[in-house]
Amino acid sequence: MASATATYGQKESSDQNFDYMFKILIIGNSSVGKTSFLFRYADDSFTPAFVSTVGIDFKVKTIYRNDKRIKLQIWDTAGQERYRTITTAYYRGAMGFILMYDITNEESFNAVQDWSTQIKTYSWDNAQVLLVGNKCDMEDERVVAGERGRQLSEHLGFQFFEASAKDNINVKQTFERLVDIIWAKQGPQLTEQPAPPHQDCAC
Ligand code: GTP
Ligand code: MG
Repeated sequence: MASATATYGQKESSDQNFDYMFKILIIGNSSVGKTSFLFRYADDSFTPAFVSTVGIDFKVKTIYRNDKRIKLQIWDTAGQERYRTITTAYYRGAMGFILMYDITNEESFNAVQDWSTQIKTYSWDNAQVLLVGNKCDMEDERVVAGERGRQLSEHLGFQFFEASAKDNINVKQTFERLVDIIWAKQGPQLTEQPAPPHQDCAC
């Protein structure tokens, strides 16, 4: 087992309660529900109020997968354009991305391609991406058909879920699938591969 300090896929010397750490980023346009999605997953809470994220924040959650304790360090990025320089600085050490759009917001769906390009530009080559169409509880206001999301995800080579942070639909499944994809790609190398540069905080 690796014994380096807290970093990519390795054991943190100060905390022996996990085997691996996976760094995950949630990205997508402002108001698609990134913060809500993370709060639902980490705290099982939801608030209808919209407090737009300033810069970047993170939460930690430890899960069991493949008989291993995996500590997820989940970074919630601001969707607003003005924070783009700050948020893209965090892409590099990420093993996985949740790229989110809002099924009631066409613009957020049209932006998916651009977000995908940002990932290719700023992240590590092997980073895994899962596309999420959030707010699937708002069927009456849907403007992006599920089939369009599925087709785009196939085109981009990403896996795909529709989800709802509000109604707790496919939230846990999204994170677990992403962890499984990361594990399938990286698992065998995690203890052998040197860690990419790690950024704890750019502020
Ligand atoms: P930025 O921080 O600006 O990038 O936005 P964000 O993507 O973090 O959006 P946030 O989670 O703050 O949610 C925006 C609004 O959408 C809030 O009013 C949430 O309550 C609401 N919302 C989030 N997820 C859902 C969902 O699954 N269903 C419904 N109906 N509303 C949601
Ligand atoms: Mg937010």
